[in-house]
Formats: sequence, structure tokens, C-alpha cells
Amino acid sequence: MTVTVERVKLVDVGPRDGLQNEKQPVDAAHKIELVHRLQAAGLREIEVTSYVSPKWVPQMADNAQVMAGIRREAGVRYSVLTPNLKGLEAALAAPREQWPDEIVVFGAASEAFSQRNINCSIEESIERFRPVVAAAQAQGIKVRCAISCALGCPYQGEVTPDEVERVVRLMKGIRVDHCGVADTIGVGTPRRVQAAMERALEHYPLAEVSGHFHDTYGQALANIYACLELGVSTFDASIAGLGGCPYAKGATGNVATEDVVYLLDGLGIDTGIDMARLVDAGAYISEVLGRAPASRAARALLAKR
Ligand code: HMG
Ligand code: MG
Repeated sequence: MTVTVERVKLVDVGPRDGLQNEKQPVDAAHKIELVHRLQAAGLREIEVTSYVSPKWVPQMADNAQVMAGIRREAGVRYSVLTPNLKGLEAALAAPREQWPDEIVVFGAASEAFSQRNINCSIEESIERFRPVVAAAQAQGIKVRCAISCALGCPYQGEVTPDEVERVVRLMKGIRVDHCGVADTIGVGTPRRVQAAMERALEHYPLAEVSGHFHDTYGQALANIYACLELGVSTFDASIAGLGGCPYAKGATGNVATEDVVYLLDGLGIDTGIDMARLVDAGAYISEVLGRAPASRAARALLAKR
């Protein structure tokens, strides 16, 4: 298959997926600065934080402070995770100019993961999301979903394309605008990823399907290439390869944004992202965390400076 995609939209999920998983506390000021550096590098979609229970994920307890602190740039879309109405209401309790442009409801293709991550069954999660989707859309806020464990589950093991499609249908049924297919534990390989993606593409148009790949087994770039072959052109990625899910033990970070941009630049696919500034953003947050960026491309480029 040849790749005909000419432009890719990258959503940097580092401030959320990345920093939700850090053991050490990260100040809101550093999170805000990271968002600023990502937008300065050309990112036009940034997943900033999540409105989840602080008992479950204390790292995101400063959500309102971070949303209030970011300096917004025209043309940048800022998204947040909202697992229930309480989360949406908290996000919308702020002045309107601090509202997210997009929210993410997150479900799973595996019952076991749904229970561990959001404390309810898949069916129950959809019933929780239904009023969230309607209330957000009534305010002109776009709704994306993440379908976790689409390629495998740390508790259930194998997950089939049929199981993925079941949840895609349910998300479509409650009018979620965009379908994100997530390999939470990074076990997918290209042909299996295509099989899962194809199920999403049976219900959503190409522009409304995206991939979210953790890189635990080093397959994320190959999986993105496999998605490009299908024409998918939106991907989540995380600056410096930060990330993981507190409820998916052993899962490493997301594919690093720098590595994806290096791949896409090499393929002649436009991302609108300035690699040097992106590497700076990754170096910044890595220094805050006291370690080198997990991105191979960033490390190679930093070594040449
Ligand atoms: P629950 O305990 O079933 O909820 O948790 P509840 O409705 O029974 O409420 C229990 C307590 O939580 C109450 O407080 C509520 O007020 C509070 P208490 O009376 O005990 O003091 N609460 C909230 N507080 C703040 N914000 C809220 C909220 N909702 C309830 N929105 C719940 C259910 C969904 C809240 C919980 O399970 C939770 O917060 N889970 C979040 C887990 C999480 O954030 N995981 C990581 C993000 S998902 C991810 O990383 C995957 C992704 O990257 C894709 C991939 O890689 O797969 C997206
Ligand atoms: Mg994730």
C-alpha cells in the first residue's frame, strides 16, 4: 500500500497522558509553560489536563489552575478529559474563555479495563457519557472518544476487532464526533492495528478517526505508518515520549511527538511543526522531570547541538 496522506494533525497529549503518570509532583507553572512551548513549536491540538477524581489521579488535581493559566493562541484547540458529568461541569465552571474547545470521553474495548480505569462496565460508561456528549455539544464543544485497550488489555489479554467495533458503534450511537483508537499497553503490530482501525472507519469518516499508540513494545511508529497506509491522518503523540496510564501497569509512554515528526518530515508529510522548537519543549519538560527525553530523535538531535 502506498501512503497518499499529505498532511497530518498531531495532538500532543503530553501535558495530560504524560504528566498524569509521573510519581513526582509537577507544578502547574511547569505544565502551563509546557503548553506554551508546544504551541510555539506549531502544535495546533493540545490535550491539556483531565477532570477526573483527584483520589484516582492526584497528578491532574490542578486542572482548573492549568486551564486558567494557559495563554491561548488563535487556531489552537485545547482539550481535556471528562469521564462524567461532574468532570464536564467542573471544566465549564470556569469563565468561558477558559473552557476547553474539545472534551474526551474515555471508554475501553475490554470490560476488565473499563472497571479498573473508570469503575464501571462498558455499558454503564456509555450511559455516563451520553449526557456529557449532549451537554458539551449543546455548548459548541466537540467530543472525541478514546477507546482504550483496542489492541490488548493488561487484565483480559487479547482484544478482538469485534470487541473494538462494538464500542465504536456505542460511541457513534451517543453521537461522539471523533473516534480515537488507543493501544494503551503498546502491544499492537501493524496488521492488527489496521484491522482495529478498519472497524472504526466503518462508522466514522477518515478525518474523524485517530490513533493513540503507547510505545511499550517499540511498535508505535510502525503502527502509525500502517494507519497512514489506510489514509488516517490524525495521531496522538506525547512530547518527550512521556505517558502511561496509572491503571495499566507496565505501560510506557506514548509515541514521542519528536519521533513522529521526524518520520513524517522524512516522508514529506506536512505537520506544521518546527522540529527544533519541539525538541526544546521536550528538553524543557525532561529537565523538569530530571531525566533525558525518551524520544530517540530528540536525543540524537540534542547530541548534535
Ligand atoms: P467512582 O468512584 O466510581 O465515582 O469513580 P463516583 O461517581 O462514585 O464518585 C466517587 C468520588 O469521586 C466522589 O467524591 C465524587 O465527587 C468524585 P467523594 O464523595 O468520595 O469525595 N468524583 C469526581 N471528582 C472530580 N472529578 C470528577 C469526579 N467524578 C467523581 N470527574 C471516576 C469514577 C470516573 C470518577 C474515577 O474512576 C476516575 O476518576 N477515573 C479516572 C481514571 C483516569 O483518569 N485514568 C487515566 C486517564 S485514561 C487514559 O490514560 C487512557 C487514554 O490515554 C487512552 C489510552 O492510552 O488507552 C485516554
Ligand atoms: Mg494513553
